Amino acid sequence: MPVSYYEKERVFKLDTPHSTYLIGIVDVEGFLGHIYYGRRIPDRDMGYLMRPREHRVPSEKNRERLSFYDGLPTEYPGHGIGDLRESCLCVETPEGYRACGLTYRDHKIYGGKPKLEGLPATYGEADDCTTLELAAEDKVLGLTVRLYYTAFETLDAICRSVRVENTTGKPIKLTRVLSACLDMDNQNFDLLTLHGNWALERMISRKKLGWGKQGVSSLRGISSHQEQPFMALAEHSATQSQGQVYAMNFVYSGNFLGQVEMNQQESLRMVMGIHPTDFCWNLAAGEAFQAPEVVLVYSSAGIDGMTHTFHDLYRNHLIRGPYQNRARPSLVNNWEATYFQFDTQKLLDIGREAAAAGIEMLVLDDGWFGKRNSDNSSLGDWVVNEEKLPGGLKYLVDTLNSMGLRFGLWIEPEMVSPDSDLYRAHPDYALQIPGREPTQSREQLVLDISRKEVRDCVYDQIHKVLSSANVEYVKWDMNRALTDVYSLALAPEAQGELYHRFVLGVYELQERLLRDFPNLLLENCSSGGGRFDPGMLYYSPHIWASDNTDAIDRLKIQEGTALVYPLSSMGAHVAACPSHTNGRVTPFETRGHVALPGCFGYELDLTRLTPEEKAMIPGQLEDYRKYGPVFRTGDYYRLASYSENHEYDALMAVSKDKRLAVIDYVQVMSRYRGKSIRVRLNGLDENLYYRCSETGEVHSGAGWMFGGVPLPKLNGDFLSRLIVLEAVEAE
Ligand code: DGJ
Repeated sequence: MPVSYYEKERVFKLDTPHSTYLIGIVDVEGFLGHIYYGRRIPDRDMGYLMRPREHRVPSEKNRERLSFYDGLPTEYPGHGIGDLRESCLCVETPEGYRACGLTYRDHKIYGGKPKLEGLPATYGEADDCTTLELAAEDKVLGLTVRLYYTAFETLDAICRSVRVENTTGKPIKLTRVLSACLDMDNQNFDLLTLHGNWALERMISRKKLGWGKQGVSSLRGISSHQEQPFMALAEHSATQSQGQVYAMNFVYSGNFLGQVEMNQQESLRMVMGIHPTDFCWNLAAGEAFQAPEVVLVYSSAGIDGMTHTFHDLYRNHLIRGPYQNRARPSLVNNWEATYFQFDTQKLLDIGREAAAAGIEMLVLDDGWFGKRNSDNSSLGDWVVNEEKLPGGLKYLVDTLNSMGLRFGLWIEPEMVSPDSDLYRAHPDYALQIPGREPTQSREQLVLDISRKEVRDCVYDQIHKVLSSANVEYVKWDMNRALTDVYSLALAPEAQGELYHRFVLGVYELQERLLRDFPNLLLENCSSGGGRFDPGMLYYSPHIWASDNTDAIDRLKIQEGTALVYPLSSMGAHVAACPSHTNGRVTPFETRGHVALPGCFGYELDLTRLTPEEKAMIPGQLEDYRKYGPVFRTGDYYRLASYSENHEYDALMAVSKDKRLAVIDYVQVMSRYRGKSIRVRLNGLDENLYYRCSETGEVHSGAGWMFGGVPLPKLNGDFLSRLIVLEAVEAE
């Protein structure tokens, strides 16, 4: 059991393979203090780390109570009674009181992990993990708050969530419920976050932690292109392979706040949860609110250590379904090939080329329904456009199936076009504020997915379409941020619940889809990579990483994505050239190598390729079959980063048995070099011998790791090479 309670010390100890987390019940009034999180230690009696005597324990006269509250490292801070750092919980009573402070009540420790009702979350059985359920209370309010901590047996991850139970006997309003808090001393930390934009998502940012509050957030209703629900504190000296890193990632797909605060004492408070702005939740007596989960990862092996834990946790304890451990089919998506201008004939032409080349699936993107011949109409009218697709989906899919191709379909269920039958019949289904014209984006409005009748109306239509043919894959898109967030179905005092209810509605719909079509492969997407978050990964094993399909920009996007998310979760395609995003021309081979580590596919008109390009496809598919499993299941290493060196990029994946390693190398900008670049490898077995596909030489894992592999000298920009190291018997 990695979780224990020590009665004498009144300490909870959570151990993962390389980390320890200690929680103390503080003598004074039973506050839940945070003692320690870091490298694994055998000790439990470490309560001195909370500096309990230095925070001026309240005397009988009560004169220094504030200083005690404000200085104590706390597990889950309440509000308004003296801890003046960021609070995690705010509760409003009918009288307008807004204070709360939590003390220990009781606890349970058990194997496995409880499900979070209606929410995505990591999962595990009794032999994978152990959960500590700490019940705390505000004695004045009579409120119960349960703090959940699940420690994994083989991973340095602790998953936390919070449940607030209204045991006060009166209605209350929650105006803030964050999901995790970590108090500690500053250790000369840098703050690591992922920032971006449409078509340039998840750029890595690393900067020195400063005074005051800093962090990441979204108020767009989705996790967003702009900021990821991820942040990490890395020791300033930490590198890819050395140093301590503390990370948080939010398993949620809506508004979030991730914040680190450095106060006057150089104490840090790191918090994450649903953004309190525009949030409230009304709880009648006896009701409960479950806040989403935060994954906490500790690494004493640098950034790679953190990355590996996230990848393994998400691959084995978050992603579900029949494709969890299966190769995803290679596919061709028609978006950049045709946009809205296609018909059955055109799709069959593309399908024929795809089947001949050995591609496994065709995904039909936007434009197959209603009168949608551009992005200005028909969202909400999920009826096949038989002018484009005579004989409906059935004829198209049957014909593709007879060629040996599987079929996938694009949908955007959360949206409605003002020019649609749905909107004309039910204008009230869209989010809108009475008396104010709702703001359009891409000429579309957002449906009030918090309402069951709205979800049912859209879902029933989509269910019918998916049942009409052999659809094995769905790409679920979402192309705008939420605005005009008001529901005609909610009482005025409950409008603050709407952002969260919207996200819960999306989760309910996706769960319904997976339940009704259990063999379906779901891909999430939001105007490219605007909803690439762990919440979505619970429903779809992969997510479209970005609308930017230029191979060179993709190096940066995929590098940032892979900092947290497994390569297997990234949709990556060989796309049309010149790039539709930035006009760059790159070789077909390089586009293949850059897409290879992800969920591989093509996003171009196969009928318009040159014979040379066409001839390369079978080889690329063979690489995907051969090396896809290493990228999908192995350990990922960032060997050289184009975003840092501005010249070349090299990533590496090593199989878990360490017998196969693949290096994906791109020379972005060519320059004269008198000598070759050498990169030191990582993750090999020092004692095994490996043959290098590039040089044919055999050396020990130690030799390749400490001596390095010479990268081939390539003559030109945007060129690439796949270098494979396979274990051989020693010579
Ligand atoms: C945005 C997606 O990211 C694209 O791949 C494509 O599906 C379009 N939407 C379709 O409207």
